[in-house]
Amino acid sequence: MLVLGIESSCDETSIALVEDGKKVYTNIIYTQIDIHTLYGGVVPEVASRMHVKKITYVLDQALKESGKTLDDIDLVAVTAHPGLIGSLMVGINCAKTISLVYNKPIVYVDHIHGHIYANYLESDFTFPLLALVVSGGHTELVLMKDHFDFEVIGETLDDAVGEAYDKIARVVNVGYPGGPIIDKMAACGNPSYPLPHALINKDGYDFSFSGIKSAVINLNHKYEQNHQQINKEDLACSFQTAVIDILTTKTLKAVKEFGIKQVVVAGGVAANKGLRMKMQDIAESNNFKLTVPSFKYCTDNAAMIAVAGYFQYIKSK
Ligand code: KG4
Ligand code: ZN
Repeated sequence: MLVLGIESSCDETSIALVEDGKKVYTNIIYTQIDIHTLYGGVVPEVASRMHVKKITYVLDQALKESGKTLDDIDLVAVTAHPGLIGSLMVGINCAKTISLVYNKPIVYVDHIHGHIYANYLESDFTFPLLALVVSGGHTELVLMKDHFDFEVIGETLDDAVGEAYDKIARVVNVGYPGGPIIDKMAACGNPSYPLPHALINKDGYDFSFSGIKSAVINLNHKYEQNHQQINKEDLACSFQTAVIDILTTKTLKAVKEFGIKQVVVAGGVAANKGLRMKMQDIAESNNFKLTVPSFKYCTDNAAMIAVAGYFQYIKSK
């Protein structure tokens, strides 16, 4: 089954063609990052206008690169939520138009399901499976006992991990988006600043990252007020080490409680080198299978939406 995936929930316009959830013919991504960098974050109105401007170009490119036509496709899969409403509308209108004109079925995909299914491009799924979802808007632990069967067993009570990364990078003034920059800085530092590890030893699987974010911001502020230079690499490393400690502790706890066979890491923060390394360590020492998406499928892309759409469609039959 050849699926046309469309993703426009935030600041990437992406269209992909994927067969049977595995074979990626094309995955064109037009990123607006340079435009939003000027403002230090995504400006929703600018984002939707850029999607309108680029989506037909991205579609043309995808068809050209794959050598396929819209007649060849069997299903249209489009991100329907969550996301910026004006941005989502652009992808949905494109998908609906193709579905109507070419008489193809359409499925409306949850963006987070897409991030989870990005892992299917690397490896088949073995259940029960646990997804550690870490993106700019979400931090969740999701238990899956079968394909397209999602149970959120824990989530952040305040900030998402990626959001905390981006906020800290802005305050410490190192650029946007914060995640990859802090990740690089952390590799050159030591975890010398003590930071809170909220909820790490609490029952259940919920997370909280606003306390650690505030602690980093306050520490930086204190140094500025005293006209002292904080060591930014050490601060980045202290923050990243604490975040990874919290994420991996809760993940491991869930692995043991639910008899998990495979863990997948999903969302933009899955690109984090420190997190990937620590997850690999705990997978080896605790004997579970770990899958992380290749870097190009960590952040927003339409291939993951096509894969999730494929399974959503099959499950609905
Ligand atoms: O999944 P995504 O592309 O968008 C949402 O669905 O939210 O995730 C974007 C987030 C941003 O917050 C970005 O800073 C973060 O992923 N990110 C990272 C890394 N690369 C991207 N965070 C930590 N380390 C990275 N290497
Ligand atoms: Zn995303």
